[in-house]
Amino acid sequence: MEMTHNVGEAQLFAPFCSLAKGPNNGEKEPQVRSIFVTEYGGPEALEMRNVPAPEPGAYDVRVRVVASGVNYADIMQRNGLYPGGPKPPFGAGFEASGVIEKVGDGVGGWKAGDAVACFCDSGYSEYVVAKAAQLLAKPPQLNFQQAAAIPCQYLTAYHALCTLGKLAEGQTVLIHAAAGGLGTMMVQIAKNRGAQVIGACGADEKCSLVAGLGCDYPVNYRREDLPARVREILRGAGCDLVVESVGGDMTARALRCLKPRGMLVTLGAASKQPAMISSVELLAHNWIVAGFHLFAYTEDTNAMMQAVQSLHQWLEEDKLTVIVNHALPLEEAARVHEMVENRQTTGKVVLTTGYQP
Ligand SMILES: NC(=O)c1ccc[n+]([C@@H]2O[C@H](COP(=O)([O-])OP(=O)(O)OC[C@H]3O[C@@H](n4cnc5c(N)ncnc54)[C@H](OP(=O)(O)O)[C@@H]3O)[C@@H](O)[C@H]2O)c1
Repeated sequence: MEMTHNVGEAQLFAPFCSLAKGPNNGEKEPQVRSIFVTEYGGPEALEMRNVPAPEPGAYDVRVRVVASGVNYADIMQRNGLYPGGPKPPFGAGFEASGVIEKVGDGVGGWKAGDAVACFCDSGYSEYVVAKAAQLLAKPPQLNFQQAAAIPCQYLTAYHALCTLGKLAEGQTVLIHAAAGGLGTMMVQIAKNRGAQVIGACGADEKCSLVAGLGCDYPVNYRREDLPARVREILRGAGCDLVVESVGGDMTARALRCLKPRGMLVTLGAASKQPAMISSVELLAHNWIVAGFHLFAYTEDTNAMMQAVQSLHQWLEEDKLTVIVNHALPLEEAARVHEMVENRQTTGKVVLTTGYQP
């Protein structure tokens, strides 16, 4: 699989910021359907537009999309809450799977007809342009809807747990939003690393889902006091690692689930509130707090090789699956955003274009 990562720091949010430009105005290209964010706000700010198919530049490919990945970051961008995010109007989404339809100048190793998953601009579209160097070949074990989860959620799960968190056999990890797209990946990866997993979920059905994925201790944190339950499970001890994505007062509660010198990885703010952490509490317990954003890790070639190798190994050994519980047509983007924002989804959420290779 070819995957190089040459995105500089200044381009950290480039895949998001450049969405504002939208597809180009090439006259000969067919019109394609694409979802735009017309203004910051609720799901009603999403609008279907007909735009010219985006033209691949040098070292780019054009992909005919089968499935567009929906990520919580899309919700944050639509709300105007994403740090460094695009300004409306911009094309929604940044991840897709499909088939290469056109190859730009200078592209080697990829050809029309190849099945891929990619980061891209305007991901909620029938066609997207992606950098050839950042394409991922669709693993044969996954269908296109599942493959749409690889660029963002699989890579985030892997790098947060393994590259940054260095999760090792016998350690204990607490995973927030464990039944979500990212969470279901993390539960499985943590088990594959030989860790003990506590999965925090907002509903009993979500707890059942993660138990089915091997989560040792699902906890409905809306019914139980999370730090108290964790201490009970670990007989008074704390976790080696906590991956937290809710923000607000949940971050402080998550910290209290750590052992001394344990690490909390903060990678999201689904509550739309900043994390409240006391520095005094940190030093008193030797707790480590680390921020995580995926695009700093996609630049790390060695880490990416390990992530991709592990993906293939786990898929071959049948130790990883991508749960797609919600696949709706592109025109349902607003409804899908509402469902994700209202915590009504589990596993990966995708929008489908209707194209079936
Ligand atoms: N930093 C990065 O590079 C990076 C990359 C990917 C994802 N993320 C972050 O990771 C998190 C998960 O992403 P995802 O796309 O897989 O989404 P998701 O987990 O499928 O959906 C979000 C989940 O967050 C939980 N949640 C808790 N409080 C919430 C609130 N007030 N409003 C809405 N949801 C709330 C809900 O689960 P419960 O009901 O179980 O609580 C909800 O289902 C997001 O915060 C996202 O921004 C960060």
